[in-house]
Amino acid sequence: MNILVTGGAGFIGSAVVRHIIQNTTHHVLNLDKLTYAGNLESLVSVANNERYQFSQTDICDRVALDQIFQEFQPDLVMHLAAESHVDRSITGSQDFIETNIIGTYQLLEATRFYWNALEESKKATFRFHHISTDEVYGDLEGTEDLFTETTPYAPSSPYSASKASSDHLVRAWHRTYGLPVVLTNCSNNYGPFHFPEKLIPLIILNALAGKALPVYGNGEQIRDWLYVEDHARALYKVVTEAKIGETYNIGGHNEQKNIDVVKSICTLLEELAPNKPAGVEHYQDLITYVKDRPGHDLRYAIDASKIEKDLGWVPLESFETGLRKTVQWYLENTQWIENVQSGDYKNWLTQQYQAEQ
Ligand code: NAD
Ligand code: TYD
Repeated sequence: MNILVTGGAGFIGSAVVRHIIQNTTHHVLNLDKLTYAGNLESLVSVANNERYQFSQTDICDRVALDQIFQEFQPDLVMHLAAESHVDRSITGSQDFIETNIIGTYQLLEATRFYWNALEESKKATFRFHHISTDEVYGDLEGTEDLFTETTPYAPSSPYSASKASSDHLVRAWHRTYGLPVVLTNCSNNYGPFHFPEKLIPLIILNALAGKALPVYGNGEQIRDWLYVEDHARALYKVVTEAKIGETYNIGGHNEQKNIDVVKSICTLLEELAPNKPAGVEHYQDLITYVKDRPGHDLRYAIDASKIEKDLGWVPLESFETGLRKTVQWYLENTQWIENVQSGDYKNWLTQQYQAEQ
């Protein structure tokens, strides 16, 4: 099959592209604008595979989308391109509205135009998979409650509101135009190639640099953490096996308080990186409580029983094993980190292009 992946240079998208190229015989076109969050260095392991190709394209550019659909003739679309960081959405929401809402609209229209013209057999097997977040449900108050696929939407941040909007558009395009869609809403991901603005990579890299470890508010907020490669496996299963119109929640059964996540990283670093920066006796001493995020959601937790029952998917990584692998990865992949921190990853495309001359 030909699989069009949007946002394939991002954290989860790159895991999806690596998963498909390494474990199937399908062809992948990675369509990505390469914002600050897009990093082609995360795809070095597949970049030279003949079944992989890349196009630097904005999902808001309808003309470019139409051309890509005509040339690549996708059998499946996996839509991950998005602005994804809650804190950035609070300081500047415009890109979130443009990419997450308008961009999803443009992609839906390009897909509908292409899908309408397909021959009947291809039309029947085609799928548009919208990848979304559990943050559309808002936060949970009780300690026992879980998000299910029928939990009402109540997004709190500009990010989650823009993702909720895109989910509604996708469902409307199914109901109104019959577009064959599937949707997934996933909990917080972590793992290799994670941009260090998000909690886990930020804490690892700050600790290694002897910098403060910022914990928002009292650190009691709870997230349900899923190892990114478990998510990539789930997404492939859903796009290839789910019935049209279905939604699946995906989660790791790993509820953790933020402060406990930060402490677990410090404990792992004590073992794996015992040579601490000058002046640091214990990594935990770097923990610093800072001003809380406005509108901060208190607790997310996913009921992932539907995907387990229907598709037989369960996470393979526990938080303990996944976090250890993640810390180890950040200790070993210093070049990737240096290039992200210096901004050099932005030049990778030019460098690669020049190297091929
Ligand atoms: P990310 O920020 O790491 O990557 C997003 C990618 O989209 C980047 O490569 C970026 O260049 C690209 N992009 C942004 N705007 C674009 C545009 N206009 N046109 C084309 N490409 C564009 O995000 P991520 O963490 O990999 O998340 C991927 C998807 O999964 C998002 O839709 C997000 O909402 C969803 N999600 C993320 C998490 C999480 O914990 N990170 C959890 C659940 C769902
Ligand atoms: P984040 O990784 O930004 O994901 P999300 O906001 O999508 O859940 O944040 C995870 C949790 O960690 C969230 O409750 C906010 C908190 N947090 C901190 O306490 N300090 C930080 O420096 C960051 C980036 C996040």
